[in-house]
Amino acid sequence: MTASRARLASRMEGIAPFHVMRILARARAMEANGRAVVHMEVGEPPFPTPGPVVAQARRALDAGETFYTPALGLPRLRAAIADYYQERFGVRLSSDRIVVTPGSSAGLQLALAMLCDAGSELLLTDPGYPCNRHFARLYGITPVGLPVSAGNAFLPTLEQIEAAWSPATRALLLASPANPTGSVIPRERLRAYAACIERLGGVLIVDEIYQGLHHGMSPHSVLEVDDRVVVVNSFSKYFCMTGWRVGWLVLPESFIEAADRLAQNMYLAAPTLAQHAAVAALAPATRPILEARREALGKKLRWAERELASTGLEVTRSPDGGFYLYVGLAGLPVTASEFCRRLLEEEGVAVTPGVDFGVHRAERHIRLACVAEDGEMRTAFDAIGRLCATLLQGG
Ligand SMILES: Cc1ncc(COP(=O)(O)O)c(C=O)c1O
Repeated sequence: MTASRARLASRMEGIAPFHVMRILARARAMEANGRAVVHMEVGEPPFPTPGPVVAQARRALDAGETFYTPALGLPRLRAAIADYYQERFGVRLSSDRIVVTPGSSAGLQLALAMLCDAGSELLLTDPGYPCNRHFARLYGITPVGLPVSAGNAFLPTLEQIEAAWSPATRALLLASPANPTGSVIPRERLRAYAACIERLGGVLIVDEIYQGLHHGMSPHSVLEVDDRVVVVNSFSKYFCMTGWRVGWLVLPESFIEAADRLAQNMYLAAPTLAQHAAVAALAPATRPILEARREALGKKLRWAERELASTGLEVTRSPDGGFYLYVGLAGLPVTASEFCRRLLEEEGVAVTPGVDFGVHRAERHIRLACVAEDGEMRTAFDAIGRLCATLLQGG
C-alpha cells in the first residue's frame, strides 16, 4: 500500500483514546487465545433489548419504515417522550421541546455545538464521562474540570463553580446519576445549580442517561425544578438499547429552531427503525421488564460493594444509581493503570482505570461495571482479592 501524504487535523491531538476500549481489545485477544475473561470494563447493561421493543422494530421494518424521519425525530416518539415526563416526573412538556438524537452521544455534541463558541469554556466534573471533554475539544471549547471527591458526594460545590466560572464560560455539564461515581444530584441541589448558572448567565446541561437506574431513591429530572436547562437522555442504559443508537434532548423552546437546523446538517435524523422501537420502550407493557432489570442490577451493585469490603479496596461513597462502582485503591502500592493491567493479564478480569475519567486522583481509582453474571462476578472478586493480597505482600 502506498503511504498517504495527507496528515491529520491538529485537533486530533486533543482526542485521547478511551482506555477502556484498549482494555476491551486486549481482553478479546486473550479470549481468542482461549483465555476466559470476566468483563467488568464496558458500561453496557447485560440484558438484550426487551421483546416488545424488538417486536415493534420488526413491525416497522415490515411496514417499510426505512426512510428518514424529520430531523427533530418521529412525531410519535417525541410525543411519547413528553408523556413519559408527565407520567414519571409530573412534568408537563410540549413535545416540540424534544429532539430525538442518534444516541445521547449525538445529543451531547449537538448541545455543545449549538451553545458554546470555539474559544469558550465548559465546566465539567473530574472524574466524569470521558467523551465530554473530547466533544468539547472537537468544537474548540476548553473543558475545565471541577475536581469532585467522595467527601462532597462527588458533586461540585457552588463556590467551586463560581470560582471556575470565567467570562469565557458558557455552560456547566453535570450527570445524574453520574458515570463513573453513581452519584445522584438531590432535587434541591439541582435547583441550586440551575439558579447559580442562571445568575452567571450560562446554561446548565444535565445528562440523565442513567436516570431509570436508581437504587434506593426514586428518580427525578432537573426539569422538575427548572425548565431553562438542557437535558440529555438516551434509550441506551435503562431501556437496554445501546446498539440502536437513539437518545434525546429536552431544550428550551427558544433553542429548537437552531437544533433542527444543526441536526439536519449533522446527521439528518436518528435511525428510523430505532425510533419506532423506542416508542415501545416507553410503553407501559415494557416497564415491568425494565424495572425487574433495574432491581437485578441494583442487587449486583450492592453485592459487589459488600464483597469489596473484604478485598482491601474501598468504595468511598456508595453509588445511588447506575451500575458502576468507583473504587479507591486505598493503601495498595500500585497505580490504577498497573492494577488494571495485572488484573487482566494475571487473573483474566477486565476493569477500567480512573485515568479514563479525568486527572483528579485518577491513578488511585478504578471503575467496575457490575454487569457480569453472578458466577463471573464471584470469580472476579476472588481474583481482585488475590491481586490485592499479592500487592500488599510486595508481589
Ligand atoms: C454519562 C454518559 N453519557 C452519555 C453516554 C453515551 O451513551 P449513548 O450515546 O449510548 O446514549 C454514556 C455512555 O456510556 C455515558 O456513560
